[in-house]
Amino acid sequence: MTKRSLTDLLAQMTLDEKIAQLVQLTPNFLNDNDANLTGPLASMGLNPEAVWNVGSVLSAVGAKETIALQEQYMKNNRLGIPLILMADIIHGYRTIFPVSLGLASSWDMELAERSAAIAAKESSVAGIHVTFAPMADLVRDPRWGRVMESTGEDPYLNSEFARAFVRGFQGSDLTGDTDRMAACVKHFAAYGAAEGGRDYNTVNMSERQLRESYLPAYKAALEEGCELVMTSFNVVDGIPATGNRKLMRDLLREEWGFDGVLISDWGAVQEMIPHGAAEDNAEAAHKAIAAGVDMEMMSSCYAQSLKELVQSGQVDEEWINESVLRVLQLKDKLGLFDNPFRGADEQREKEIILCDEHRQAAREIAAKSCVLLKNENVLPLRAEQKIALIGPFAQSGDVLGPWSIWGSQDEAVQLFAGLAGKTDVSRIAVAEGCGITSGTEAQAQQAILAAQDADVIVLALGEASEMSGEAGSRSDIRLPEVQLQLAYRLQQLGKPVVAVLFNGRPLDLHGIIDVADAVLEAWYPGTEGGNAIADVLYGSVNPAGRLTMSFPYSVGQVPVYYNSYNTGRPLTPANADQRYVSKYLDIPNAPLFPFGFGLSYTEFAYGDLAISAAEMGETDKLTVSVQVTNAGKTAGEEVVQLYVRDLAGEVVRPLKELKGYRKLKLEPGESADVQFTLTEEQLRYYHSDLTFASDAGLFEVHVGPNSRDTAVQTFRLVK
Ligand code: BGC
Repeated sequence: MTKRSLTDLLAQMTLDEKIAQLVQLTPNFLNDNDANLTGPLASMGLNPEAVWNVGSVLSAVGAKETIALQEQYMKNNRLGIPLILMADIIHGYRTIFPVSLGLASSWDMELAERSAAIAAKESSVAGIHVTFAPMADLVRDPRWGRVMESTGEDPYLNSEFARAFVRGFQGSDLTGDTDRMAACVKHFAAYGAAEGGRDYNTVNMSERQLRESYLPAYKAALEEGCELVMTSFNVVDGIPATGNRKLMRDLLREEWGFDGVLISDWGAVQEMIPHGAAEDNAEAAHKAIAAGVDMEMMSSCYAQSLKELVQSGQVDEEWINESVLRVLQLKDKLGLFDNPFRGADEQREKEIILCDEHRQAAREIAAKSCVLLKNENVLPLRAEQKIALIGPFAQSGDVLGPWSIWGSQDEAVQLFAGLAGKTDVSRIAVAEGCGITSGTEAQAQQAILAAQDADVIVLALGEASEMSGEAGSRSDIRLPEVQLQLAYRLQQLGKPVVAVLFNGRPLDLHGIIDVADAVLEAWYPGTEGGNAIADVLYGSVNPAGRLTMSFPYSVGQVPVYYNSYNTGRPLTPANADQRYVSKYLDIPNAPLFPFGFGLSYTEFAYGDLAISAAEMGETDKLTVSVQVTNAGKTAGEEVVQLYVRDLAGEVVRPLKELKGYRKLKLEPGESADVQFTLTEEQLRYYHSDLTFASDAGLFEVHVGPNSRDTAVQTFRLVK
């Protein structure tokens, strides 16, 4: 439809119909039976007629179900406005890819895009039109359970991933390509900065910091054409994001020019009441619509209060019209007025979902997401070795992660099955050893027995998926004690130990890091997890994952992230014995594994770092070059990382800031000349008055295999 005919349609709608378009409910509400009238609808204070005008439903999936739902809805909707169906398709629909923090370790935008395109294809045939992804929240606190949904602690890398996911979900022709779906970037804004890592908690930061670190990835998603934005649960500068006019109307709409649909997070409009920002539903609705929130997810402040607010003149009906028009435009863009069922197709659903091609992609991506953290001459394994596979994840389907709501553990490849694809099963002894958080002596004994005969012990340890994800905050981020005790006992056997970790956050690896000769971080690897991990353990895939979030030395350091400031009394090797420097008395300042870290089965040697000039004018391009050689015996991939430090800024600058990276694939003995170009634009940052500019002066440029082990050169920006 043209904009004109959408406006005509809007003109035919009653105020009630318009308000209902701004409401999103779960499918159980769309029912006119008595149980619904007296149950869910009554509990939300919703008028039964509103149900057939509700603009959107979340979490209805499956071609058959969604087609039936849309059919019934269209029969009941006076003006024939189709329903828009949204769901959380975070890292796969039924073919599940690694959790985002894992996938990010690939540092591979093509893989991210491909995973999102497959997720879009599978969910489009299942009748879903919009995904609540990507999550572009920057994270620094591994206690927060939702770090697994993020791509990490770096604004630049997060922005690259946000773009890649949007491209994958939406493609280049959302209207014509029904295998794609609209994306919704979330959670706007700064949800990842919850104090103490406790979910939904207060966020407290300056606008400058918000702009510098937290906003870039959301903005990148929008620049890529992302159709929707979701508000966050937290306060931003003391005002709940969902009612924050400065954030939404001034920044998102006016400054960034976002004209798509802004949806609240689940119940977030009503949550302005407990936040202490609204006395009742009416005030919450008023604040949300004033802030520019178009659609209210799963609370009924709009449905209950907007009409009266308009009729009493407190809310301008124009705001409602604008929001409804945006919702109609989205429906139109998805082609729903022409075909309300869009891609939903039971036959194709059978063919596409979990097809070989998708499983193959999941396997490749999961293998590329594994990060080798330690390896003292144990890996790769050899097919002739006898393996004892021990631990609660040895034969567990809980490898999909907490957001894989449409995936099934039964469809996942367990680690045992993966290993059995690489070596004869007679060479694998398997025992659970203990559960995730508790175990018995008999279980431990069985594990010890299973390990007696083995050449290598593979310990499959980790957190149950519900220990991270939404509302999955933890204060102690070590492996559960029972698993550590099992590891200590197995260590006594004096055999090489390989730990494979399944988890959704950077863990404090105390205990296991010393017990194990090799540690492979496998995250929640998804449907093909077992196969992918076996590919890495047996060397069919040379691990190339690099962390995008620091692994703390201990939880007491948190937040610990690579792009922090220096302080006036930085700790150096020379002053480590002095008291009045910025340090802990009992632990190091550095994380156990820094941002960008990850090992390979081969070695990469870096030549001298060179820069093209010692001075850089405002229009100059500085070339940074280094030769990287595969000095080992196996082909492998290296992620060469470029960082910059501004040594004296008007506002102090981070110790290092990622400005670029190259992923290289090198055969043994092969070298590559890696060149990066730096421009003045890349040196800009937000000043105290929020202008975005660079400062003349000295800079360091760093290149290396991770954020810690870099070579450095200096140059001066001259203005
Ligand atoms: C989460 C969102 C999610 C929404 C819908 C909320 O609780 O914070 O990330 O998209 O639920 O399921």
